[in-house]
Amino acid sequence: EEAEKGGYAHFMQKEIFEQPKALRDTLAGRLDLESLEVKLPEIEANLSYYQNLNRIFISACGTAYHAGLVGKYLLEKLVRIPVEIDVASEFRYRDPLIKEGDLLIVISQSGETADTLAALREAKKRGARVLAVTNVVGSSVSREADDVIYTWAGPEIAVASTKAYTTQLLVMYLLALYLGRAKGSIEEKLYKEMVQGLKEIPQKVQEVLDAEAKVIEFAKKHLTKEDAFFIGRGLDFAVSLEGQLKLKEISYIHAEAYAAGELKHGTLALIVKDVPVIALATQEALFEKMLSNIKEVNAREATILGIAFEGKKELAKVTDDQIYLPRVPELLAPILAVVPLQLLAYHMSVLRGNDVDKPRNLAKSVTVE
Ligand code: G6P
Repeated sequence: EEAEKGGYAHFMQKEIFEQPKALRDTLAGRLDLESLEVKLPEIEANLSYYQNLNRIFISACGTAYHAGLVGKYLLEKLVRIPVEIDVASEFRYRDPLIKEGDLLIVISQSGETADTLAALREAKKRGARVLAVTNVVGSSVSREADDVIYTWAGPEIAVASTKAYTTQLLVMYLLALYLGRAKGSIEEKLYKEMVQGLKEIPQKVQEVLDAEAKVIEFAKKHLTKEDAFFIGRGLDFAVSLEGQLKLKEISYIHAEAYAAGELKHGTLALIVKDVPVIALATQEALFEKMLSNIKEVNAREATILGIAFEGKKELAKVTDDQIYLPRVPELLAPILAVVPLQLLAYHMSVLRGNDVDKPRNLAKSVTVE
């Protein structure tokens, strides 16, 4: 087992650091580097179905569900088709209004999660087409779906998912760009910027990984805390949800994510002196709104870690610690912003002496209900 960890202390750490490679492998063959075009032969054969979709549904569990939340945002923004998303255990029992002409996207690292598989079967029974995004060739989900786009993350051993998540995000970008292009719903300039950004994303993730020391510092400061809050708006809210899940799963710190605009509707009552708050502020149109939310928690003397793109100097005035992300087109921010959150959960878990790769009560793949 030590040999398999390749010099890392834990599988999770190894998998976090494998992300640049996993992203590169998932991009390979899908990004024409000369023409800067996205290619998805996986769905090209049925393109007319995809071009005429009425609605898209997304269903998944755990971390894969969080990748789906980013997917919903991207598909609606770039393809302009309404997208509904549910965790699979809800979708399968809610008598969903899905039918022929609709698409269900299921996302599953293992391709074996019982609820996700049941959601897939439910959608097929009702006449919809199913696209699976999975990491395991030959998995149940890949066999039963109509179309499959593989993430090429390689085997993921740690229970807490990391490289599978970022490669699932990457597939969501590729799909939204591809369908946006096919439908003519995406502006040429944005398309080119994003494709160029995706090409560079593995290298940018590497740069974020190089900031690990900053995260360790923050983790050490908050080692004994029992609660943490993650706040963000838009895409940052989706990433916040993944950040809180990672922290809960392996550090056993009670963590919650809130859409920052909801703070005033309850959560602010829990923000007291020294409570750690991780605030994501990567989205330009929402930056001022985020700053005022951060000021609200700052006024209650929370200890705040702010995450934003380089150059956002205002952040330092209202937060205790900052992590600055290298510039990419801002829709791509989730792939970078999640990395410090993964590292935070990892180091908290290590510092607290937990079994990082095999957290209590959790399994890598949930194949029974
Ligand atoms: C379990 C794992 C999670 C994973 C979820 C969905 O809860 O611990 O890491 O996100 O199942 O798994 P899947 O294989 O369907 O992505």
